[in-house]
Amino acid sequence: APSDQDMRAIISDHLHLEGALLPILHALQNACGRIPQEATPLIADALNISKAEVHGVISFYHDFREVPAGRHVVKICRAEACQAVGGNALAEAALARLGVEWHGTTGNGAVTLEPVYCLGLCACGPAAMVDGKVHGRVDEVRMAKLLAEAGA
Ligand code: FES
Repeated sequence: APSDQDMRAIISDHLHLEGALLPILHALQNACGRIPQEATPLIADALNISKAEVHGVISFYHDFREVPAGRHVVKICRAEACQAVGGNALAEAALARLGVEWHGTTGNGAVTLEPVYCLGLCACGPAAMVDGKVHGRVDEVRMAKLLAEAGA
């Protein structure tokens, strides 16, 4: 885990930026793979805002996480065009298969499952993304295969 001193250094490197909170959070997440809980009071202090505000921003942007992600991040499109062609059932099946809630990580640390709102593949939904690579027309069989490949 990063020391308070490391986190303070990262924070002060970005303090001069306009809207410093987001750059600070990105930098911490890049350095630590997550936003350590202990960072919240340090950030709040440095920016002179409340801890609740810092926490609110961390939870609003789902790309920030307080616990590290799994080795693979699987995102399933939850937007309309994909829902219309079976995205819901696909999502439910994936959640059940992995035994997680959205943003959760499998017990073996292999896969974190995230919802995403449109991957630009609306014409060939349901769409999913595995570690940044998009896949179209993902049915349950294909999803099961992708999850198995990811080690879930
Ligand atoms: Fe799913 Fe656009 S709605 S990719």
